[in-house]
Amino acid sequence: MIESSNEAADREPVELHPERPHPARVYDYLLGGNTNFASDRAFAEAALKLNEGTRTTARSNREFLRRAVTFLTRDAGIRQFIDIGTGLPTSPNVHEIAHSIAPESRVVYTDNDPIVAAHARALLTSEPGTGPTTYIEADLRKPETILSQAHEILDFTQPIGLLLIAVTHHLKNDEDPQAVVAAVVDALPSGSYLALSQITDEFRPEQWHAIEADFARRGSVLTPRPRASIEQFFTGLEKVDPGLQVVNRWRPEESDAYKDLSEGECSLLGAVARKA
Ligand SMILES: C[S@@+](CC[C@H](N)C(=O)[O-])C[C@H]1O[C@@H](n2cnc3c(N)ncnc32)[C@H](O)[C@@H]1O
Repeated sequence: MIESSNEAADREPVELHPERPHPARVYDYLLGGNTNFASDRAFAEAALKLNEGTRTTARSNREFLRRAVTFLTRDAGIRQFIDIGTGLPTSPNVHEIAHSIAPESRVVYTDNDPIVAAHARALLTSEPGTGPTTYIEADLRKPETILSQAHEILDFTQPIGLLLIAVTHHLKNDEDPQAVVAAVVDALPSGSYLALSQITDEFRPEQWHAIEADFARRGSVLTPRPRASIEQFFTGLEKVDPGLQVVNRWRPEESDAYKDLSEGECSLLGAVARKA
């Protein structure tokens, strides 16, 4: 929902449920953020015991986001972004990266989580003189809601960078995530790009399936997927080099802290691909 500031002030207070671990706050803890409670930290520490690479997975994902948005803005000339499943605001965020290269860039942020919404409305705001940022509270599984509202902000005659970074693994297989992603991609103009990363069980299946089961016990969804299934998100698109890779090996920079992780330590596959 796109809201004016008055509407935002009128909304019901968000239930934080600090006693329950929450996926966005667990991820925030793994990234070293402060927007988390004891239950989130305990859950993250349990996941770290099951797979000590969980923290590096989260951090190398964030580096992938930075390099992908830099590529899209600097090399592919993209000036409009839709970031679905944006998470709790973590600097540098998409608009900060894009604005450092092309200040006129516009960014639509989306997440389905009211806790993210509460933080995003305060923090995902652009500096004066730069392109606007907007937050839409919506669910990836209802792409028509996201698209109809994004139409009010973005120019759908010009290419758009669609970011689905570490979000599709929160969809179950029976929700047909590939069809959900295709529905958004289909609505984008020619010359648009998809950047997507997702947890894979290719390299450490036992550890990831244990974490998947732990999420399920707590009523949350985490679906690690094999490479072939992740490839399907890019059907009909042309991947830029180096194709689908563990994200720390996707165009790493000399200064990247995570460029030498093994495939198992990273455990996230990602790619950037162009729509012809
Ligand atoms: C692991 S975080 C990733 C955050 C950010 N994209 C990044 O890579 O740093 C996953 C985010 O996806 C959001 N999410 C999960 N399922 C979603 C859905 N069906 N629609 C929209 N957002 C979703 C969660 O609320 C969470 O904020």
